[in-house]
Amino acid sequence: MGLGKGFGKTILFGEHFVVYGLPAIASALGSYTTAEVKVVDGKGWEVIDQRLATPGYKEKKYDEAMQSIKNVIEYMNIDVGYQKLEIIFSGDLFAASGVGASAAQATSLARAINDSFTLMWDDEKINEAAYEGEKAYHGTPSGIDNTASTYGGLIWFVKNLKGGKNIMEVLRSPKKMALVIANSGITASTTEVVADVRRLKEANPKKFEKIFEDYKDISKKAKSALLKSDVESIGNLMNQNHKLLQEITVSGEINDKLVKIALSNGALGAKMTGTGRGGLVIALAENDEIQENIAKSIELEGYDAWKTMIG
Ligand code: MEV
Repeated sequence: MGLGKGFGKTILFGEHFVVYGLPAIASALGSYTTAEVKVVDGKGWEVIDQRLATPGYKEKKYDEAMQSIKNVIEYMNIDVGYQKLEIIFSGDLFAASGVGASAAQATSLARAINDSFTLMWDDEKINEAAYEGEKAYHGTPSGIDNTASTYGGLIWFVKNLKGGKNIMEVLRSPKKMALVIANSGITASTTEVVADVRRLKEANPKKFEKIFEDYKDISKKAKSALLKSDVESIGNLMNQNHKLLQEITVSGEINDKLVKIALSNGALGAKMTGTGRGGLVIALAENDEIQENIAKSIELEGYDAWKTMIG
């Protein structure tokens, strides 16, 4: 039997922009998906998905998840013509849109196959396999989700648009920072939202040029603020990043509502994270007490809220 795990992630800065080669910053979460792989008689593969999930999430993502698993198995050259893989997914990462659940699933599977077949793949190759899995969710994944899921920690990531090695830098912040993750309960299709942004960009090149310039400035300032744990600046930059995400139409009404609740209950900054149009919102708190306050106010409105520390 082989075992593997993949971290969940939250994108602090730069979702969508990262697809176009602009820098993004993500933090792995303490929660992860686990995979267990058993080789049995038969052929093909069978999946038991025991992950906790937002209602409807697994159903909506079913076809993409199956394709993702197939991609990982094929990339790792496992011949399932004369043996069968029994795969069980579990772990404490709640599968929801925005938390990197698809990447965590692909990473955990790659690690479990690596363990089961004693392939001795290093993190770089595991990350490549997980990236193949991510391709099932949309044709042009930036790779940030699988990278955060494989390596963990706080990372600065720039996709290499020419197909070479991506830039990945581990950032170390002097202090841990308190974050609230609010779940809208809505599962968006990354494929559709990424394609919409591409269409919008093609129709409005000048507008996007300006937005990209503004975002580049935010990302540089965010990196230096994170390296100093300057939470006030980080919060402020999160708000600015959220505005740009609104401009490219990926923040839905529900995201804006959750951002508002967080800000009016003491958050230093708040923004949608990941695909958007539902999914998750993150809010930065100055201390544990405010973090608790924000989480409670979101729960009072009927949404799930998770507290986590990043950095
Ligand atoms: C999804 O978690 C993040 C996006 O930027 C897509 C990607 O980076 O591949 C929307």
